[in-house]
Amino acid sequence: LQDELLAAIGAADTTEALEAVRISALGKQGSVSALLKTMGAMSPDERQIQGPVINGLRETVSNALAAKKSELENDALNARLATEQLDMTLPPTAALNGSVHPVSQVMDELAEIFADMGFAVAEGPEIEDQWHNFTALNMPETHPARAMHDTFYMQAAGEEEARLLRTHTSPVQIRTMTSQEPPIRIIAPGRVYRSDSDATHTPMFHQIEGLVIDRGIHLGHLKWTLETFLKAFFERDELTIRLRPSYFPFTEPSAEVDVSFSMENGKRILGGTGGWMELLGSGMVHPKVISACGLDPDVYQGFAFGVGVDRLAMLKYGMDDLRAFFDGDLRWLKHYGFGA
Ligand code: PHE
Repeated sequence: LQDELLAAIGAADTTEALEAVRISALGKQGSVSALLKTMGAMSPDERQIQGPVINGLRETVSNALAAKKSELENDALNARLATEQLDMTLPPTAALNGSVHPVSQVMDELAEIFADMGFAVAEGPEIEDQWHNFTALNMPETHPARAMHDTFYMQAAGEEEARLLRTHTSPVQIRTMTSQEPPIRIIAPGRVYRSDSDATHTPMFHQIEGLVIDRGIHLGHLKWTLETFLKAFFERDELTIRLRPSYFPFTEPSAEVDVSFSMENGKRILGGTGGWMELLGSGMVHPKVISACGLDPDVYQGFAFGVGVDRLAMLKYGMDDLRAFFDGDLRWLKHYGFGA
């Protein structure tokens, strides 16, 4: 049997053929396995003689199988090496460079501009509680503005109040005022969420909040800060702004800020005297908000503003569809991204 098996192993010229020989010898129904099974029925004397012979056979066969297997694998590798070649003279494929997403670029630009004016960057969680997102901002449970924000609520955990995806960056005002002593000068860039989706609205977008709290702060500070920031961001000295009375529950008075634009070859260019375009919301922080944060509104005043970062990017770089920001189209990203 040994000679027969060794001959079969020697003759196997593929790994499949070799595997078939292995199964015929050492598999469950194999010839060697059958011999091993007979040992159980032998008398001790018989087993003393036959045992080593049968075990030796098994070992010889499995060694031969292993040797043949590595020989076949070696042959296969050599065959590949003989046919495959590496042409070292071919030019390499260019490595793909990443780029900084336009939103991140603009956030960096904004942080830099505001840093020059003495603002630090503050952050808050994207999963927010109702108190920070609404209540402390003078939007109590029944406030209609609460319904105006198309809010994504999380499933409530037991008795706890449902948390939500923050609908604006204004809760960072609250988090800052409750954790920092005035004077406060911060900006808070980040993601915000509203259940809204069309060409000009995506369910996730970016805002940047600004907050200044100190003694003796007034509307003039707000106007100067916004004008200085917008001129620097759009790189236009001739840009003018207009504060238009508006309403937000957390500011009083509130103002919508418009920037001037003019038409050039059918395109809107910021600055000039062609018209006004609405850009951001702002106002003097409501005394109720200041006291909700544990500060005395008779001592401290301040202003706040909130603006869409994606909208700023679109205006500065001439992009026309907000949804492109979040499609991840490499051609678009390459066009508008800074190369890494
Ligand atoms: N949070 C407001 C919004 O999302 C913007 C805003 C911020 C208005 C700060 C006034 C002051 O629309």
